[in-house]
Amino acid sequence: MVSRDKLSGDSVIVVTGASAGIGREICLRLARRGGRYVLAARSADRLVTLQAELRSLGVESLCVTTDVSDPNDLERLVEQTMKQFGRIDVLINNAGVDCFCEFEKLTTEQILQTIEINLTGSILLARLVVPIMRTQSCGAIINMASTAGKHGPAFGAVYGATKAGLIGFTQGLRGELLQHGISVTAICPGFTEHGGIYDRIVEATGKQTSKFVGGTTTQQVAAAVEKAIDSGVPEMIVNWPPMRPIFLLRDLFPRLGEKIILMASRKFLKRAAMTKNET
Ligand SMILES: NC(=O)c1ccc[n+]([C@@H]2O[C@H](COP(=O)([O-])OP(=O)(O)OC[C@H]3O[C@@H](n4cnc5c(N)ncnc54)[C@H](OP(=O)(O)O)[C@@H]3O)[C@@H](O)[C@H]2O)c1
Repeated sequence: MVSRDKLSGDSVIVVTGASAGIGREICLRLARRGGRYVLAARSADRLVTLQAELRSLGVESLCVTTDVSDPNDLERLVEQTMKQFGRIDVLINNAGVDCFCEFEKLTTEQILQTIEINLTGSILLARLVVPIMRTQSCGAIINMASTAGKHGPAFGAVYGATKAGLIGFTQGLRGELLQHGISVTAICPGFTEHGGIYDRIVEATGKQTSKFVGGTTTQQVAAAVEKAIDSGVPEMIVNWPPMRPIFLLRDLFPRLGEKIILMASRKFLKRAAMTKNET
């Protein structure tokens, strides 16, 4: 399927949400393989700091201040990338925000913003990048979903909806593009240490997730992204303990599966939501 190594020294890799957490770690991990990076997020200062780190590793990058919920910014991101580097080998749709809160307390604005950043932005950016990858007959698109997309979390229904949407989008787009040498992968991390979303919950609540739900780290997620680009697999769940058997059990026995998932996660998520309501 792959005609060109998608992670070679001169590959062009666009990463949204590169300014912090998982996105930043992905850039630092992939930079070991060389490549030229396009760093996108809203915080220009943090992008410049990462650019300096990449430069010290001998890797070239371009910072493009981008709000992924703004379609004009997405067009500018792709235009500037093409102007500077002339191709796009890998797109990593990683930018995202959490939305853990009692459902009826969410404002319309919060709901729409979460969907625009986590889902619509990724879809619109992929639409701009796919024609470029088609011309190249090669490329990899990585969509940063979540285990929350495999089973919608209590107190995170809208977040879960955006991540389930990303998984469905990945599957459909993949079916369309595989024959053109373009792989599309959904990465589904569990709660991720050193990622801003999980770390902020732990800081606010003073509690970690239960051992049964477990989690992962930004380093493990970045390693999974590298593996996914190389192998072009459809989906990777990144968590310890493994969650696929739990989701399989839930598919076979929905009530029992749901009961187990809620027992293991509801209390933690409720505490996260209540803390957010107070702020
Ligand atoms: N941490 C976890 O436990 C976990 C688990 C599963 C999946 N994930 C997913 O992994 C991704 C990264 O999460 P993280 O924990 O690393 O979060 P994080 O540390 O809070 O970083 C989020 C990144 O997204 C960027 N971002 C947010 N809104 C944006 C916008 N409107 N336009 C452009 N960039 C925007 C932020 O940059 P600026 O603020 O500078 O714009 C930042 O670079 C998300 O998609 C998240 O849903 C996280």
